[in-house]
Amino acid sequence: MKIIVCTAMLFLSLKAEGFITKTEYAKMLYVNPRGIGCVLCHGKRGEGSVIAKYKHKGEQKKLVAPAINNLSKEKFFRALKESNSVMPKYFLANSELDALYFYVTNQSSK
Ligand code: HEC
Repeated sequence: MKIIVCTAMLFLSLKAEGFITKTEYAKMLYVNPRGIGCVLCHGKRGEGSVIAKYKHKGEQKKLVAPAINNLSKEKFFRALKESNSVMPKYFLANSELDALYFYVTNQSSK
């Protein structure tokens, strides 16, 4: 009996997972990509944001995360595979990068 219940539960949970859409999966990755969320620096829809404002030698400066919703796929992939100055290094698979690219390029500006 126990085995039957377990199998049924496993089946149900697998089935439930099937209901996650491509966009939901992509959003999940964007917010929580096995590392610090892209959303924290690049904004909710990849529109970019000012991360910090500071003064350097009396001059007002700001640290900006650029918009990433308007890049070519090549540029997007390259940025995530090479190491950058401010942005953390991620170790994401191409399929994950595909999903992220899909996500930021399919967000309307509403
Ligand atoms: C701590 C803030 C931060 C986080 C988190 C972050 N980025 Fe960035 N990202 C930056 C900054 C700043 C740059 C500009 C290059 C640099 O200084 O590293 C950048 C550059 C980029 C670029 C290249 C933009 C261009 O015009 O060439 C892409 C693409 C990108 N980020 C995507 C992502 C994705 C996708 C994630 C999540 C997996 C992410 N970033 C997480 C700060 C961040």
